[in-house]
Amino acid sequence: MDASTFHAPYAENRARFLARLAERGAAAVIPTATLKYRNHDTEYRFRPDSDFWYLTGFGEPESVLVLLPGAPGAPGAPAAGGAARPRSVLFLRDKKREEEVWSGLRLGVAAAPGTLGVDEAFPMAEFWTRLPELLTGFERIVYRTGHDEARDRQFHAVLARLRALVRSSAALPGEVLDPAPLLHELRLFKTPHELSVMRRAVAITAEAHRAAMAAATPGMGENEIDALLTYTFLRRGASGAAYGNIVAGGANACILHYVNNDGPLRDGELLLIDAGSELEHYASDVTRTFPINGRFQAEQRALYEVVLRALQAATLQVRPGNTFVSVHDTAVRVLCEGLAGLGLLPGTAEELLKNEAYKRFYMHRTSHWLGLDVHDCGAYVVGGQSRTLAPGQVLTVEPGLYIAPDDTSVEARWRGIGIRIEDDVLVTEQGCEVLTAAIPRTVEEVERACRPAAVGPAAAASAMAAMAAAPRT
Ligand code: GLY
Ligand code: MN
Ligand code: MN
Repeated sequence: MDASTFHAPYAENRARFLARLAERGAAAVIPTATLKYRNHDTEYRFRPDSDFWYLTGFGEPESVLVLLPGAPGAPGAPAAGGAARPRSVLFLRDKKREEEVWSGLRLGVAAAPGTLGVDEAFPMAEFWTRLPELLTGFERIVYRTGHDEARDRQFHAVLARLRALVRSSAALPGEVLDPAPLLHELRLFKTPHELSVMRRAVAITAEAHRAAMAAATPGMGENEIDALLTYTFLRRGASGAAYGNIVAGGANACILHYVNNDGPLRDGELLLIDAGSELEHYASDVTRTFPINGRFQAEQRALYEVVLRALQAATLQVRPGNTFVSVHDTAVRVLCEGLAGLGLLPGTAEELLKNEAYKRFYMHRTSHWLGLDVHDCGAYVVGGQSRTLAPGQVLTVEPGLYIAPDDTSVEARWRGIGIRIEDDVLVTEQGCEVLTAAIPRTVEEVERACRPAAVGPAAAASAMAAMAAAPRT
């Protein structure tokens, strides 16, 4: 794929956003993320800001996109009444051999318009001096505050300067708008390009979860499975994990944001894995829970089947016209029926729903939007009501049950069991498509996937053996 093909989808995103900006008479200033130190002088690996990536497909640090819908009065715009010409202006690091030797090749200013399709490009060093002129004539400016204090201060200083010039300026930049209502509503509805990337991310994640099911055996450590997941993500071309892998054996699964991944995998216990690859900065987000020795025990299976029923019923709610919250409400209702049926909580399902007793074992929500960010942008409530689902949205469905190891309100045999099953689901015209459908989910599918011999010829050598034998390139 040549660079112009690669960047066409981002140019389309820009054009759609520019059209929205034009409706509001607003310019937009969209900086990428800021490099962050991990400790002393060691930086985290850079990851661009999601809004910035969506509009540019450009992954270098120290860059800002300015979008000008060509409102009348803006420099370069024709006189009022003429067709306004939208402009995209990118500020980026220029090429500098002595710095590229340390941190890698840069696209550079000269190549940026041809490669990214932006109208103009300037060195980042000129950003603050050029910004006032670019923003002159706009009454509203889309800019997200609160991410970088120093930048916010400079931005407000630019606005103050423009306001001081109000007599000679065509318009006063009076309003700073958050990107959420304009840009994040666009990002909520995935384009065909985005969906193709997300499907590839999911395929990589599927391979990783299958490899983990095939590899996990009593005596191993959570760390080995953590490594196998990351190995599979990277080997298949993902940039890594979309969020910290959760590899939680036994009662560790009851810690919702378990990150240590350093416990043992014990015979007779379950392993909960919440892990998804990130590809071209798009997230996948998948949880599977399976028996470490390949066979569910009675209590584990009973609880697993309750969670599975909740997942299936909740997924059936994902269709255009239903509300976002109906997915959660359905999951909770089925979980309550299961908890009442197993006698884990006293009372009928209706009572458990009403008195919210289920929260003892199910304390999180069932869904969130998914996209460039794992907890993606887009409003959940519109006009005070839960949002209506519509084609192009992607959300997770992730019910679970977590019985704390020290919960003496239940018989000992239930304690320390934590289960979550999480799928990524696309809302379609007809209903929905479970993007993660190929990852084992039913008891039978999961138990089959846990037997390495049954995995198939492609994985004849077990996943761990493949990992050990892989050439180190
Ligand atoms: N892995 C984060 C989540 O499931 O929301
Ligand atoms: Mn999730
Ligand atoms: Mn998850």
